[in-house]
Amino acid sequence: MLKGKKIVVGITGSIAAYKAAILVRLLVKEGADVKVIMTALAKEFITPLTMATLSKHPIMVDFYNPENGDWNSHVETGIWADAYLIAPATANTMAKMANGVADNLLLTTYLSARCPVFVAPAMDLDMYQHPATQRNIEVLRTIGNQIIEPEEGELASGLSGKGRMAEPEHIVTALIRYFSYKESLAGKTFMVTAGPTHESIDPVRFIGNHSSGKMGYALAEELASRSANVILVSGPTNLHTHNNRIKRINVTAAAEMYAACIENFPSTDGAIMTAAVADFTTAQVSDSKIKRQGNRLTLELVPTKDIAAELGKIKKEKQIFVGFALENEHELENARKKLLNKNLDFIVLNSLQDKGAGFNVSTNKITIIDKKNQEPQVFRLKSKQEVAKDIINKLELYL
Ligand code: CTP
Repeated sequence: MLKGKKIVVGITGSIAAYKAAILVRLLVKEGADVKVIMTALAKEFITPLTMATLSKHPIMVDFYNPENGDWNSHVETGIWADAYLIAPATANTMAKMANGVADNLLLTTYLSARCPVFVAPAMDLDMYQHPATQRNIEVLRTIGNQIIEPEEGELASGLSGKGRMAEPEHIVTALIRYFSYKESLAGKTFMVTAGPTHESIDPVRFIGNHSSGKMGYALAEELASRSANVILVSGPTNLHTHNNRIKRINVTAAAEMYAACIENFPSTDGAIMTAAVADFTTAQVSDSKIKRQGNRLTLELVPTKDIAAELGKIKKEKQIFVGFALENEHELENARKKLLNKNLDFIVLNSLQDKGAGFNVSTNKITIIDKKNQEPQVFRLKSKQEVAKDIINKLELYL
């Protein structure tokens, strides 16, 4: 299940290094191409010959071979890898990783790696529980590393507790799970609308709303992280996208968003409509700045097109169509009406009654209602990134 995946295994100086032999054997058995980097101390626990034989590649320890000056390029290895797995990872190595220390090949490769990094700690229970170690693990987690939790049981010291490296089978399962998740939407294209729209009144003023676009951008990132291509039709926001799977189309007014959506939707596998589109726009945009005069100014507004409803009409059987509803009363009833009127497969309800949900915050609390009329699924308050995962997990059930 890891066929063709390029995995670098970094081994540090822990007694659990002996398990790295089984780990590498299992990875190779799953079809992975494995290269091993060892620290100088790791060689005291398991021989490079064992690891080279199992991985079918020479072992990398030093920056160069002192015999012939051959250079082990940490940059090339870091770029080559689809995943970098540091197992076992000692407290010392994790402390260095958390602080960007680069005094051996394993660490310089860590800093050069562009791929996801998995860390399987191994140490005595008191070292593991120490606040300094826990802080380092937290730092590694927040900068995007995946920690494969150690397991409880008897330790080499004779003590018993949490600190033994996860069993090689469990580490391999974590990698398989990661790769299958990572590619679950490969070959699919989804459109996401995000942010507010701005409806011009005159050359300097507009009618807008408080939408930040965060929910739509989080969904676009989540889709892309599962290998989907994303067309992000975005109203004006302060957000950035760095993923080359995301093609961003910037629009300002509801009419432009409508045009971009009508053009792009037919070629997609589905769409998620998170944008807070203005329901009304100005009947006329003044060519020059409106001057302050008189006691009253009346603006004439006309309805915009309901983009979701229009796409609902042209939606093909196979396309998945998801909408949002922001409600402050009769929430479920109103959301169900929108689900039907816009021909959605499911609708994500935000209630303004819930603290931490809705506009301009980084969290959200959602309820999902689907057209199969199952019980509404109520989720707890989460970050918008986690909410995006829940929504895309639901979307995958429709594929
Ligand atoms: N939507 C849209 N185009 C519009 C208005 C809404 O695509 N002109 C989409 C939103 O992106 C969302 C869904 O329709 O996915 C519901 O939006 P919402 O503002 O909650 O509902 P409205 O249809 O505008 O109804 P109302 O404002 O009366 O609640």
